[in-house]
Amino acid sequence: MSDVFEAMANRFSTRGYTEEKLTKDEIGTIVKAGLQAPTATNRQEIHITVIEKGNPVLAEIEDARNGGKTAPVNFYYNAPVVMIVSGETAFHWSSVDAGIAVENMALAAEGLGLGNVIIGCIRDALTGPKKDYFAKALHYPEGYEYKIAIAVGHKASGKEPHTYDWDSQVTML
Ligand SMILES: Cc1cc2nc3c(=O)[nH]c(=O)nc-3n(C[C@H](O)[C@H](O)[C@H](O)COP(=O)(O)O)c2cc1C
Repeated sequence: MSDVFEAMANRFSTRGYTEEKLTKDEIGTIVKAGLQAPTATNRQEIHITVIEKGNPVLAEIEDARNGGKTAPVNFYYNAPVVMIVSGETAFHWSSVDAGIAVENMALAAEGLGLGNVIIGCIRDALTGPKKDYFAKALHYPEGYEYKIAIAVGHKASGKEPHTYDWDSQVTML
């Protein structure tokens, strides 16, 4: 179990996974981290749908994203688990809350030694013409919509954490 600074420094978007499944405890720890994230006015409106590799809905999302054509790449990089974070459509802060929750989940995964990648590219599929179909298939609560997703699994690929430019990104007044 790494501490939060190690997790932030070492996390990177993992784009390749082994076949090893996650345990129920690992999944539970990551989901709990999402639910422990702060939400505006403590509304706790974030909903998480856990989907295991092989569930047909994952391929349906890819097909919708690709206009019915077979996906050239697996958007989930063959991760054993994908988690979709949905939020209340009418609540102004839901996208921010979902972003905070998904980063908590990413750091929790890193803390468990697991790879993860945040997935935004399925947004068009989940908010397009089949939006209602997917809302039902993914069991969102009523009045919810897709916000963000994360794939998690055991790392089969690596990369250096990204660099950043303090001087252009930070202003100290
Ligand atoms: C909102 C958001 C959406 C993202 N969507 C995708 C995605 O659809 N596919 C992907 O491979 N990576 C995605 N990423 C990962 C970014 O590409 C990645 O965080 C960035 O390149 C920095 O690399 P690092 O995470 O390894 O530090 C997303 C990240 C964020 C924050």
